[in-house]
Amino acid sequence: MSDPQPTFLSELKRSHDCGALRSSETGKSVVLFGWVAARRDHGGCVFIDLRDRGGITQIVFEPHVNAEAHALAGELRNEFCVGVTGVVQERGEYRNKNLATGDIEVRADRLTIFSRSETPPFEIGDDAANETIRLKHRYLDLRRPSLQKNFLIRSQIYQTARRHLAENGFAEIETPFMVKYTPGGARNFLVPSRMNPGQFYALAESPQIFKQLFMVAGFDRYFQIVRCFRDEDLRLDRQPEFTQIDVEMSFVVEEDVYRIVEGLVASLWKDVLGVTLPTPFARLTYADAMGRYGSDKPDLRFDLPLFDLTGAVRKHEGGSVELLRAAIAGPTNIVKGWKLPAAVASKMSRADLDKLEEYVKGFGARGLARARVAAGGAWTQSPMKTITDELRADINTAANAEEGDLLFFQFGSKKLVNAVLGGLRLHLADKFGLIPKGQWRFAWVTDFPLFEEAEGGHMVAAHHPFTSPFPSDLECLESDPASVRARAYDLVLNGNEIAGGSIRIHQSDVQARVFRALGLSEEDARAKFGFLLEAFRYGPPPHGGIAAGVDRLAMLLCGADSLRDVIAFPKTQKGTDLLTDAPSVVSPKQLDELHIALKE
Ligand code: AMO
Repeated sequence: MSDPQPTFLSELKRSHDCGALRSSETGKSVVLFGWVAARRDHGGCVFIDLRDRGGITQIVFEPHVNAEAHALAGELRNEFCVGVTGVVQERGEYRNKNLATGDIEVRADRLTIFSRSETPPFEIGDDAANETIRLKHRYLDLRRPSLQKNFLIRSQIYQTARRHLAENGFAEIETPFMVKYTPGGARNFLVPSRMNPGQFYALAESPQIFKQLFMVAGFDRYFQIVRCFRDEDLRLDRQPEFTQIDVEMSFVVEEDVYRIVEGLVASLWKDVLGVTLPTPFARLTYADAMGRYGSDKPDLRFDLPLFDLTGAVRKHEGGSVELLRAAIAGPTNIVKGWKLPAAVASKMSRADLDKLEEYVKGFGARGLARARVAAGGAWTQSPMKTITDELRADINTAANAEEGDLLFFQFGSKKLVNAVLGGLRLHLADKFGLIPKGQWRFAWVTDFPLFEEAEGGHMVAAHHPFTSPFPSDLECLESDPASVRARAYDLVLNGNEIAGGSIRIHQSDVQARVFRALGLSEEDARAKFGFLLEAFRYGPPPHGGIAAGVDRLAMLLCGADSLRDVIAFPKTQKGTDLLTDAPSVVSPKQLDELHIALKE
């Protein structure tokens, strides 16, 4: 009687993953598990590509090696889950240079089918398959090697972040998700409380208040890799639940926070990409970022700055252009320009320019005044035909204009002008390939305004109400709040905001003044943030912190275009999960238990 064959799983353990084998293993017996990525029959032999998260290995079944295994291999179809044993052999002249394991194949002597698969709704290797179908069958989508690579990178991000922060004395402590609703900041998701009829928790938009309480408690250095929830309109770089690497430190100033984050980011780039980043990162003020690039998260891989024309237009009282004259009649209105250099401007036809007009309307612009610079600084193709020679000359100087350049103009509120020209700068630079690839341009954006004007004209905290004002600006807190700068900072990379934070207020008198400037009465403030104000009566240390967006970091490190490619189960733009079909209706009984009645 022959010995019974060893069984898969209990005795035959996986010896390698499907990306591991090289010619140095030739002659070795191996055990591989995975999914059938492709199957071919050739002259009596069956070939399969076996795929797991490590890669792909070619397996060959030949009738003379094991007739039974060869026969079973004939039944294999894509996405069957199988185990094989066999011997590694060289592929010689048939080697596949496009595959890491392409020098070898495994001559199978045993095969087991763990489970069979129906024909999948899309081909796993097809990156271009319809996204709706892919999200509905996300577990199959996630089998794609390109997505698997992203999630292994994301996993590396967590390992590196934990190591870096632990090495620097940070303690990992969790904070609650179900919290008290506090106004300001992003819109919250609400969770009804069954045990407290008519009352709601909010899902935490960030651990902000709790991490400040950790500083009051004396934890000194805290971090958490934490999910945050925000009921915002979604974009490619925004999800309703996302992950932060959240950090808070006591007894620090801005430079201490920068140093920790630069170390963290440098370790990530080293561990994931093998790239050594030069530190410290560049700095620019919010005013410079808005002035030069029309954005507080400028893409610094290329320059092509905006230029301010407000002074020139005011000096020449509109230079005989009615549009400009009317624009500067508004005391807070500004005029700015942007130049597309002649080398690429020549590629833009009049029809292209008309299309741009439509493009900028997406930013709220009413139009896009422009001029093509001719010899001697004359302008052609410009709606501003009546412009005086003096204003035109001043604009040409500000633009450093040369023959063939295209000049674009925008006037109106600061917000509109910067959004339009900042957006145009990115759009045309991208269109004409002016953004160099393979560059990592980090910068700290500093000196943000403490307040910004909300719709309706009242002041809201630009970052959050616990952000410290510049001590030197405190005297203007009541008289000119718009001019007060915050000790807030963002880290930007290639046009993305990847982290944001601030030095916090720890003096209750300053906090009270900021609340007052925000239009919050003492009672309001106590009702909304009472627990924090109370805590600050017991010796709060000076402190500050920051949070980095893991999803955005992962997107950039993976070279992905959308957060959806680095979040395992992402939501669609409408906030739905196509896989599980969330959100969904619940039964009247459930609503009843929650003391909730739906509107008709
Ligand atoms: P902030 O709101 O700037 O700061 O968020 C920090 C970082 O989180 C990322 N981020 C997002 N990523 C994906 N989807 C979203 N909807 C989303 N919103 C934000 C960004 C951003 O830079 N409590 C403060 C931090 C602090 O002051 O310490 C905070 O949450 O990369």
